[in-house]
Amino acid sequence: MAAGCRGAPPAEWRYPRPAMPPIDLRSDTVTLPTPAMRAAIAAAEVGDDVYGDDPTINALEARAAALLGKEAALFVASGTMGNLVAQLAHLARGQEAIASRDSHLVVHEASGHAVVVGASVCMLRDRPDGTFDLDELRAAFRDPGDPHQPVTGLVAIENTHSQSMARPLSVEYTRTVADIAHEHGVPLHVDGARFFNAVVALGVRPAELAGPADSVTFCLSKGLACPVGSVVVGSRDFIWRARRARKLVGGGMRQAGFLAAAGLVALSDGPDGMIPRLAEDHRNARLLAEGLAGLDGIGSPGGITQPTPGPLDPDRAVTNFVVFRVDREPAAFLDALRDRGVLMGPFGRDTIRAVTHFGIRAADIAATVAAVRDALADTAEASPGAARPAVGAASGALA
Ligand SMILES: Cc1ncc(COP(=O)(O)O)c(C=O)c1O
Repeated sequence: MAAGCRGAPPAEWRYPRPAMPPIDLRSDTVTLPTPAMRAAIAAAEVGDDVYGDDPTINALEARAAALLGKEAALFVASGTMGNLVAQLAHLARGQEAIASRDSHLVVHEASGHAVVVGASVCMLRDRPDGTFDLDELRAAFRDPGDPHQPVTGLVAIENTHSQSMARPLSVEYTRTVADIAHEHGVPLHVDGARFFNAVVALGVRPAELAGPADSVTFCLSKGLACPVGSVVVGSRDFIWRARRARKLVGGGMRQAGFLAAAGLVALSDGPDGMIPRLAEDHRNARLLAEGLAGLDGIGSPGGITQPTPGPLDPDRAVTNFVVFRVDREPAAFLDALRDRGVLMGPFGRDTIRAVTHFGIRAADIAATVAAVRDALADTAEASPGAARPAVGAASGALA
């Protein structure tokens, strides 16, 4: 086995599947394509994209670049691949990126920055609104005149910002971080896996929010409900380097226009487009947070997800995540919830996440709150609840 791919598989690495179709709130990655997407996939004109011959991919890349106000775009297999090729395009081997210590890029991408890019990361703490302390950011740039130090080559931020319960980062904040990065001659990359959730929550144009950044990755396969794929946008030169990097990591996918066709539908104006629909997910997340906040045994997740202890605060749910702590053994609670037909997932240590998405309706939210109430009752006796900290008491647990 190659170095870098070691590690024992857990006994059961797949999520258990219940017999009945569940209300699946584990992630917005579980979304299924719409009828319009399926029709577009079936009818897609395709060609060899490595030769630049796939008209559907070319159209998707042109649409994405125009929407985000950039010169060019690149279709990639996943958000992780988007972040990876962006880093390969921005960073030289041995350079360093400045990024959040809890970010997807640092924690959930199998150390691609180290293994593939050859870059270190200077990790900063984020605050409960998803932002860096700007003085800490300024202090994180290395001294390029000191031969002992790595050379800072990139700043990366995440928008929406997962760990703060998927808060959207504003245009102003993005511009400020970009200005600081640019003062040091360093580009800004936005991991915008849920970039359009931020756009919708903030009520801004995509090009406004992307404007200050040198590159943005956004996912088609989350709330936009496409089966596969992400897009990276940036300058023509940057995208050329990212295209080379995509080849390096084996991401030249040939007739992948069948996948891009769904993306074109998702990004379209008109009734089949999926961007404005994200507002429904945000409303449902808020409804869910309100319903859960009233239940005994549900409380603040703590840390930057919700710094105030005590009950879950519905005001924290501004896009499509609801994260909470349960005064039960989390695995037992999740099992009981699954038996009641609702899937949620663990999110960090001792906290649980529910993600609203395409296919989840307001009626599902009411059913979910009822199932949570029942699952709390099911696990009240069996769990060592009394031995656990009261919900909301350990506010720093995620910090
Ligand atoms: C913030 C963030 N960035 C990147 C990714 C990676 O996306 P993918 O699962 O398509 O690799 C995710 C996935 O959930 C994410 O939440």
